[in-house]
Amino acid sequence: MCGIVGYIGEGNAYNVLIGGLHRLEYRGYDSAGIALVDDNGKLNIYKTLGKVQALENFCKDKNVEARVGIAHTRWATHGEPSDCNAHPHYSEDGNLALVHNGTIENYKVLKDALVEHGRTFHSDTDTEVLVQLIEYIRVQNDCSLLDAVREALKQVVGAYAIAVIEKDNPDCIIAARKSSPLVVGVGDGEFYLASDASPFVEFTDNVVYIKDEEIALIRRGEPLKLLSFDNKENEIDVKKLEMSISQLEKGGYPHFMLKEIFEQPSTLLDCIRGRVVDKGRFVTLNGVNDNSETFINAKRIVIVACGTSWHSALIGKYLIQDMCKIPVVVEYASEFRYSNPVITHEDIVIAISQSGETADTLAAIKIARGMGAFVYGISNVVGSSIPRETHSGTYIHVGPEIGVASTKAFTGQVMVLTLLAMTIAGLKKTLEPRYAEKLGEWILKLPALVEKVIELAPDIERLSLIYTYARNFLYLGRGYSYPVALEGALKLKEISYIHAEGYPAAEMKHGPIALVDAEMPSVIVAPKDHLYDKIVSNVQQVKARGGNIIAIVTEGDTTIRNIADHVLEVPEVPECLTPIITSVPLQLLSYYIAINKGKDVDMPRNLAKSVTVE
Ligand code: M6R
Repeated sequence: MCGIVGYIGEGNAYNVLIGGLHRLEYRGYDSAGIALVDDNGKLNIYKTLGKVQALENFCKDKNVEARVGIAHTRWATHGEPSDCNAHPHYSEDGNLALVHNGTIENYKVLKDALVEHGRTFHSDTDTEVLVQLIEYIRVQNDCSLLDAVREALKQVVGAYAIAVIEKDNPDCIIAARKSSPLVVGVGDGEFYLASDASPFVEFTDNVVYIKDEEIALIRRGEPLKLLSFDNKENEIDVKKLEMSISQLEKGGYPHFMLKEIFEQPSTLLDCIRGRVVDKGRFVTLNGVNDNSETFINAKRIVIVACGTSWHSALIGKYLIQDMCKIPVVVEYASEFRYSNPVITHEDIVIAISQSGETADTLAAIKIARGMGAFVYGISNVVGSSIPRETHSGTYIHVGPEIGVASTKAFTGQVMVLTLLAMTIAGLKKTLEPRYAEKLGEWILKLPALVEKVIELAPDIERLSLIYTYARNFLYLGRGYSYPVALEGALKLKEISYIHAEGYPAAEMKHGPIALVDAEMPSVIVAPKDHLYDKIVSNVQQVKARGGNIIAIVTEGDTTIRNIADHVLEVPEVPECLTPIITSVPLQLLSYYIAINKGKDVDMPRNLAKSVTVE
């Protein structure tokens, strides 16, 4: 939530910062702002309500000449989206400008104290407290900006990634982080700073991930310095960035979401590359074989995640229980952390997160580690916090996901969970080898089968026109298809703003069936699996009450075709692989309905891609 960018060098800071903000807009788009120090030592701050494009329009006739600057795109937490609550915030003497991603929990106490000392505030944000505090300490102690930042951060409780610039010292940016991501790009005589590496991918592939409670001293013409809060100099570990510009562009698609849906055949291929080998006969996953004893001896697996990742976790439960005979509990990370969880060293905790930065999931990891569990992370963003906070783990390798609605990350997570279950089952010898081999062969065929599902897009687009103005939707499924129904409902809600409820199909008769009428369509996920006959009865129950039915069925299905109003046929695959196949038509259905309604699918209202606050 919130994206920050910084630049110092000999180039045009404004162009780098605005380009960077566009790339980070997925992190929040309530307002945007920029602070630049020009060569005459003037600090210019421009900020405005709305998206980065609005900021660009606002800056058209402004002085944007500068070789140093910081910028911000906001997802509002403290204070409504408005011009004055937009970042950067500035100190009372107008000397400092600061951008912040995170939340300052004790801002009220600090603000009251600063007001008592005569400071005036111009916004309702927690962030302004920080810049005023830094300036206050600086003036009171007559110290350097670096010392003032360090002292201020010692007084702050909360999460932050910050960048500060100073009018009187335009050759320096000071940045720091605690629990919010921050990365420095090291160029030739220039530095970039951002919440992730996407803003500077075309300028450098040398990156330094700032650690928790670390301050970066970035000075023009000097090497980068990293300091701990007690002023010790830390080692600099420059990593090579694995990201390309084409991954960050729409590539001819009208929206990132559509691009990401259509990319799934190739992202699934990337996800299984090197992990399913020897024509499917051998499956392996990083971090499992090298911790084989831990996995073999696990008494229980607890999976923590949020949102879409929580839905893939539910599928993981079915996969692991089916294949490995290990009991699995799935928890919302946000509930787990406050539930006095009972975790022992015999448990394995798996944390799933596309961004690798979700605050609740990170907090759950810390708790689980503290209680002695082995923690395994599954994420997409290389170098993000979750891979660094876990004992071991793996990446889903689906490339940057920019659309706020998660699509290719979901299928990537489910794929990795399938490989995880198969690898553990291989170690525990709980899966019949011939079946495991067959499954491996099917996995290798999956990308091509998903390609076939994507060919349904024109049919789904036509179908979407019939239901664009429905006010409520019910999504039903059983077994592996139940989390798919939850995920389908979430996709529709978040981008079309239509109320949608996902439910286990058999539970419907315990309440939600009362909602069924001709006005409320039901989307029923009903591939050929061991619960097929049961779900046929559920389909009949909805039909008997006058409900309209869109059913996702296996190719050649005639039974449901005769009952449902619309069927979308998907290729037949083994039951445990059905979620990857059946979720794709639901992604497309939500996309087209949202487009018909004229919604901004890549940046739906009130949401942000990376939820780094509680
Ligand atoms: O980055 P994470 O996977 O930890 O994010 C979790 C949720 O915020 C995320 O899946 C969210 O629900 C998506 N917008 C859903 O499409």
